Formats: sequence, structure tokens, C-alpha cells
Amino acid sequence: MGKQFKIGYLIPLLIIGGYFLATSSKTTPPSLNQARLILSQLRGGDFTHAGDKEAIDMLVTKLKQEHPEVLKGNCLDVGCGFGGTADYLVKQGFKHVWGIDIDKSTIAYAKSKYKGIAFSTLDAAAVSAQFNKKFFSFVYLFNVLYAIEDKGSVLKQLAEVAKSGAILMIFDYSAVDGGEPILDLAGNPMRPISVKEIRQQLQEAGWEVLEVRDLRSNFITWYEQLLQKLDEKKQELKGNFLEKDIAKFSATYIHILHHLHRKTLGGLIIYAKRA
Ligand SMILES: C[S@@+](CC[C@H](N)C(=O)[O-])C[C@H]1O[C@@H](n2cnc3c(N)ncnc32)[C@H](O)[C@@H]1O
Repeated sequence: MGKQFKIGYLIPLLIIGGYFLATSSKTTPPSLNQARLILSQLRGGDFTHAGDKEAIDMLVTKLKQEHPEVLKGNCLDVGCGFGGTADYLVKQGFKHVWGIDIDKSTIAYAKSKYKGIAFSTLDAAAVSAQFNKKFFSFVYLFNVLYAIEDKGSVLKQLAEVAKSGAILMIFDYSAVDGGEPILDLAGNPMRPISVKEIRQQLQEAGWEVLEVRDLRSNFITWYEQLLQKLDEKKQELKGNFLEKDIAKFSATYIHILHHLHRKTLGGLIIYAKRA
């Protein structure tokens, strides 16, 4: 039983590890943007977070019901990626949205596609260098914090540029104590959110936690649907992307889904308020 468990656990790691070994010896690693563009194409929008529009709708419904004032204020999309989420919010009635991302090439894409939104290349850990204090009424991160090691510093920076009473939304992977390292699309280790630690980090940074909602079963459904779409659209994707990029994409999400099923990875949404 114990051995079977260990072998089952290793299979996705072997697939993904084998993929990286096979490609790294022959070619340069596939660019991150290719894999993320596959994601955008599959999702039918410039999103690279779990749940696509359904996840954004979850947020919009909540804000419209409980915090409608944020729609009129300044909003910051932290780690905005290709800009699809910021654009979607503007179409839902959010008046003033800014987007920042550490990745120059995704910002160049967002700027060229969504011309009415102010995008800039910036590390989330340095937002107070670019924006005035108490400027934003709403700050959100869709699948971004998992990529950041020093979450506490980023939360403090975001608190600096947030008004008193501003709302913060964090949508992300959550960690399980003792979980093994998991690689993301770029082959980097993911740093999912520990509920216990994030509560303390939020409090220390000046955020009052309003709600922590478990989304593991939603993440499972969303990733199952994504992999099904990948299967259905494989031929279409092959017209636009290299097979090795599609294979890497598939291996990454099979791996993540495996961990979600095993409960060694979770998903959550957190709402907090600037104290
Ligand atoms: C999985 S993507 C999500 C993109 C976008 N939020 C969305 O939902 O479509 C993660 C994004 O976070 C960005 N990112 C990672 N670390 C960052 C940091 N320290 N500051 C700003 N952006 C960061 C990455 O460049 C990437 O675009």
C-alpha cells in the first residue's frame, strides 16, 4: 500500500521531469510566453488564472453586492499578465484600472491590445515607488502570489498604496503542510499560500481578513475542463504552437490536477480590508 502510494505519487513528476530532460538537452527551453499563449487560446481570453471568466465573475458579483463603492475608485491588477482580466473588469463597469507585471513582454502585449488601460512593467514589491500612497480602492491578484517568495513585503507595499477601507482580493493556490515542491509553467517552484501564514502576514501588513474561502473543488473542475479543452483543440493548437510547448503545457496541468486531487495542493480566495 505504502509503495503503491509512493509510485503513484511519482508518476506525474517523472512525466514532467522527463519532459524537461528531453527538451533541455536538445534545444533552449520553450519560452514561457508560448505556454501562456496556449492557455490564453484555450481559455478564449487573455487570462492565465484558474477558472477564467467564471473566477472573475465570482469576484465581480461579490464586489457589486458587498463593496459597490470600489467600482468607482482606482483599481490595481497586480501581476496582470496579458491584460484580459483588467479589460474584463472595465467592461463590467470598473471605472479606473491600472495593471502592473514584472514581465516586460506580457506588458508589451497588454499595452498593444488594450489601449485604454494603463499597464506598466513593475515588480509588485516596488509599487509604492510608482504610485501615490492611499491611491487605490481595490487591489487584486489572480494567481500571482504563488510566484512570489516574500509575500509579506508585497502585502506591505500594497497596503501603502491602498486607501483606508480599500479591498484586497487574493485568488491563488493554497499549500498543504509538508506538500512537496511543484513546478509551474515556467519550470519554477510554486510557492502556494499557507492559510496560517498569510493570515498573519496580512495582519502585519495592515490588512484585516474578511473572508477565506476554499476553492479546491472549483480548481479541480476548472483544470479538468481545461485539460478536456486541450484534448479537443489539440489539432487547432498544433497549427499555432510547437508540439513540445503543447506537451509541456499538458504535463504541467496534469501534474497540478494530480496534486489537487491528492489534496497536496488547494485553491482559495481571500478578501481583506485595509485597516
Ligand atoms: C499565472 S500569471 C497570472 C496573470 C494574470 N493575473 C491573469 O490572471 O491572467 C502570473 C503573473 O504574475 C506575474 N508576476 C510574478 N511575480 C511578479 C512580481 N513580483 N511582480 C509583478 N508581477 C509578477 C508574472 O509575470 C505573470 O504574468
